[in-house]
Amino acid sequence: MTDSIESRLKEDRRFVPPDEFQKRAHVTSHAEYTAMYRRSLDEPEAFWREHTQDLVFDKTWDRFHAWKLPHATFFEGAKLNASVSCLDRHLDGPRRTKAAIVFEGEPGDTRTLTYFELHREVVRLTAHLADLGVKAGDRVTIYMGMVPEAIVAMLACARLGATHSVVFGGFSAEALRDRINDCQAKVLLTQDAAWRRGSVVPLKQMADKALEECPTIEKVVVYRRVGDARAHVTMKEGRDVWWEDLMGRTASAASLELAKKPPAHDAEHPLFVLYTSGSTGKPKGVLHTTAGYLAGVHVTTKFVFDMKDSDLYWCTADIGWVTGHSYIVYGPLSCGAACLVYEGAPNFPDWSRFWQIIEKHGVSILYTAPTAIRAFIRAGDEWVQKADLSSLRLLGSVGEPINPEAWTWYHRVVGGGRCPIVDTWWQTETGSILLTTLPGACYSKPGSTGLPMFGVDIAVVKDKGEDCKANEGGKLVIRRPWPSMARTLFGDDERYKAAYWSQIPDVYFTGDGARRDEDGYFWVVGRIDDVLNVSGHRIGTAEIESALVSHPIVAEAAAVGKPDDLKGQALVVFVTLKNGVTADKNAKDKLAEHIDKEIGKFARPDQIRFTDALPKTRSGKIMRRLLKEVASGATEAKGDTSTLEDLGVLAKLRADED
Ligand code: WTA
Repeated sequence: MTDSIESRLKEDRRFVPPDEFQKRAHVTSHAEYTAMYRRSLDEPEAFWREHTQDLVFDKTWDRFHAWKLPHATFFEGAKLNASVSCLDRHLDGPRRTKAAIVFEGEPGDTRTLTYFELHREVVRLTAHLADLGVKAGDRVTIYMGMVPEAIVAMLACARLGATHSVVFGGFSAEALRDRINDCQAKVLLTQDAAWRRGSVVPLKQMADKALEECPTIEKVVVYRRVGDARAHVTMKEGRDVWWEDLMGRTASAASLELAKKPPAHDAEHPLFVLYTSGSTGKPKGVLHTTAGYLAGVHVTTKFVFDMKDSDLYWCTADIGWVTGHSYIVYGPLSCGAACLVYEGAPNFPDWSRFWQIIEKHGVSILYTAPTAIRAFIRAGDEWVQKADLSSLRLLGSVGEPINPEAWTWYHRVVGGGRCPIVDTWWQTETGSILLTTLPGACYSKPGSTGLPMFGVDIAVVKDKGEDCKANEGGKLVIRRPWPSMARTLFGDDERYKAAYWSQIPDVYFTGDGARRDEDGYFWVVGRIDDVLNVSGHRIGTAEIESALVSHPIVAEAAAVGKPDDLKGQALVVFVTLKNGVTADKNAKDKLAEHIDKEIGKFARPDQIRFTDALPKTRSGKIMRRLLKEVASGATEAKGDTSTLEDLGVLAKLRADED
């Protein structure tokens, strides 16, 4: 087996799609990909008309695209309902009885929802939400674990035209509160508790705490998942209702009628807000609209995952991140795909869990993150090899650069040497995958994220926007709007302009550094702004810093990343305590708990280092570049330290042992 892999990985480390895969793929040659790509740029309207035929537009567009940068519209004048595109359109044919969701609970329970059943649940919830007073344009927050009802909730909002804001279940009560208040949500959908590594995460309890300071929330719907005393649920009379009680009622005739035959919404009607980290302490509410977003995720799901009706597709992301939105819900369901949804941790009860799930259900496409792959490598091949993974035909990677070693292991041990790997680069703001290799059409190079997707004019440029030469490092930018791009930041259009469109005028800056090689393949090195990528989670350094300085013992704090074999980047914080506070373990514990409370456990620093002072320029700016070097263990400053106010601070920091 190894030999054949090695022969496929030719000297220049190109992996050519296997013949079997290629013959049956949606796109079968590099030339076909190139022709489609060219057409998507040169004749965009014709391209998107052809590839969005399935999406059920009630009315076609008057103007395909228009922009006055940094704002753009796509499919303007068209009308459609995203929930109808994902559900109703499958009910007239054989997909009616096909599995839409195959659910595997962490305790081992399983459930299948066909397209018919998913549609029925969504229609019911839509009617009840309408009875609770939710209307098109209202915001609804969803704070749930990985259960099918979270998907039902999203699609019910979309059906009504209410904008959903899903908050990852790992966020703390404070983080939830801020996100609810920022978008002024009217209703919260949550659950009693979620399973995580055999223990119970009390979501409702945390929601209650958040809601003490959320004046806009009128109703709370609580899905019963754990169902016993461990969830510690108290229901507030008049505000809270159990999901099952609500769904057991008879909805009003008018709401039921609306839910069954929902109105088509404008192409640019807001579909969802999703909060993500940026370079200031306040999270950004990335806003996506209906038609452009759906077009982007639909087309990429079909071509990048080579989705077929016979596939069982599993994206291991959480619904609380954009990958869950685009590639568990809207992309796959709009393609009529069967999606596996797993509730729990990859290593519960042990490291064989993922592989057993693949064997048990016959998963054919697996889409996961490099950080998970590296954790599996560390746990040992035997866990993988015990399972029969012959159902797999395609593998995907997302969220951070995949190192060639992890790529090769994924390919060899998980994919048995026969499955192409699609390394997909994209962002919350881009809505859909923008860089990858189509699996039956293009060879891949381990570590490279590949070629541009349809309609994406992407480049690597220098500071003023001039093109970099082949293999020269620079900023990754997008030079013209694409259908699934974020339209703004909720309630903060100025920040939208400043964050993405101001570095180089009229060009979207991704925040990533990259190079493009002589074959046109992109190699993304990671963030070059103040955002970290820890285990595939985006964490803003400013967010961590503002959480730390909100603790009474902290005078000043700086957060930086350092390379980490497992997590990609690890989070290191340098903290100056207030006078008279002892820098000891107790102080460290307090600060770690404070981060859990303010943001969530997933943002806990890997290292907290106390220092008497932080290195600063003469104008008082913290020199993060130096701190990064110190965090990575450098013994000498590589860069320019001429503006460092007090060189002694740096020497002292280096000498400080953690
Ligand atoms: C990083 C996740 C290299 C990148 C979909 C980007 C990647 C940020 C890749 C967005 C990849 C994502 N190769 N880096 N294949 N995919 N990234 O918004 O730094 O959570 O800017 O979206 O993740 O993270 P976000």
